[in-house]
Amino acid sequence: MRKPFISANWKMNKTIEETVEFINAFIPLVKDITDVDMLIAPPFISLSTAAGFLKGTNIKLGAQNVFYEEKGAFTGEVSPAMLLSAGCTHVILGHSERRQYFMETDEVVNKKVKIALKNGLDAILCVGESLKEREENRMFEVLDKQLSGSLKDLSMDGITIAYEPIWAIGTGKTATKEQANEAHAHIRGWLRENKEGADTVRILYGGSVTPENVASLMSEPEVDGGLVGGASLKPDSFAQIVINSRRK
Ligand code: PGA
Repeated sequence: MRKPFISANWKMNKTIEETVEFINAFIPLVKDITDVDMLIAPPFISLSTAAGFLKGTNIKLGAQNVFYEEKGAFTGEVSPAMLLSAGCTHVILGHSERRQYFMETDEVVNKKVKIALKNGLDAILCVGESLKEREENRMFEVLDKQLSGSLKDLSMDGITIAYEPIWAIGTGKTATKEQANEAHAHIRGWLRENKEGADTVRILYGGSVTPENVASLMSEPEVDGGLVGGASLKPDSFAQIVINSRRK
């Protein structure tokens, strides 16, 4: 049985002070949870402070991006070593917002996953189709292309997949549990055909996850957790998502 994994993705939200406020409120709400892995991913600038407050807790820390070079003249970018020294264990990569607004291709995402793993960071790799692609029945083709491009020359050690249909992100239009399971099963099928250890890889669902719908999504055999945007910004609601994701 794969252990549930619930990750927050705060995107460009919360100052350092607001991050500390969240963490102080969140820790007591989930302090006894050992059967769900939890991660928060604040903006870069808050990581180091967050790490200090999370030390010794059951909550892990991740970044939302990393650059694909180790160091050098790349103004404005952040390296894997910097994330490690800030206290991160994970990094979210290939999010559809990065693909859309920052022109990240599968090739770029692949380089980022590679350098993250090489430096000892675990990666949460996001894939997912647009509404148009789904309506044109190209969903599986799009997922296969993203998987093969982003996972080129990589083994699955240290990688979690997040299936995030773009039409469900921030829209309140959650995929049904059947739609999520179908996509996850397809992803797992692709992994079985192309990589070792496919059955131990966790596949998270992302896209309008809430405290109300998470248990139903988690009842599907292929849904191993969630990547949560909007509903991860409030300690109560994120804690409730964690609690409701526990296996019965
Ligand atoms: P949402 O975002 O939960 O606000 O839909 C999910 C994500 O983009 O990771």
